[in-house]
Amino acid sequence: MRYDRTQTLPYDARRDPERSGPHATAPYGDRMTTTDGPLRIALICLGNICRSPMADVVLEAKLADAGLADAVEVGSGGTGDWHVGEPMDERAARELSAHGYDPSRHRARTIRPDWFQDHDLILTMDRSNYDDVVALAPTDADRTKVRMFRSFDPDAGPTDDEVPDPWYGGPAGFEQVLRMVERTTDAIVESTAALRDERRG
Ligand code: 4NP
Repeated sequence: MRYDRTQTLPYDARRDPERSGPHATAPYGDRMTTTDGPLRIALICLGNICRSPMADVVLEAKLADAGLADAVEVGSGGTGDWHVGEPMDERAARELSAHGYDPSRHRARTIRPDWFQDHDLILTMDRSNYDDVVALAPTDADRTKVRMFRSFDPDAGPTDDEVPDPWYGGPAGFEQVLRMVERTTDAIVESTAALRDERRG
């Protein structure tokens, strides 16, 4: 399969010299688990019934549309275990269905420390998820796999890099999440070749 090697990565908060805090860590790619095979991406939120499953379904659909279904494996999980085994939140599912995506296969899972060896990139929806996931990383090198999901969003910036939790709000929150997810997953699809190159180091 041929990849476009001219792609450059979009805004990455961890490469922004203005940025301090947990995102100002070493660039992604210090320790990748494998250097061939599909790139393996885990998408993480709190409950794994709203944001990360929406991102999972949309990213899978966009990769398939781009002919990259075999190049990237996508999964999702939550940092909490309250909803394990449950389908997607019905408001999230309704929003996806209204835009032609299939939410039906999702069942909620919780991230475990062994996900670090099984994934190349672990993308978190908000900073609280980011901190919780980094705290689970078995090694310093594993921490370099954790990145904010919206670090790929061309509209994100140093103070606007979260996908807000829509759980307590109304339908507008789910519409906003889908817009962010569609924009960000488009950028991830465009970055696939660069991410695979970065993994090869
Ligand atoms: P998510 O949303 O993290 O986007 O799946 C939430 C789902 C459930 C809860 C919180 C957020 N909860 O508290 O049960």
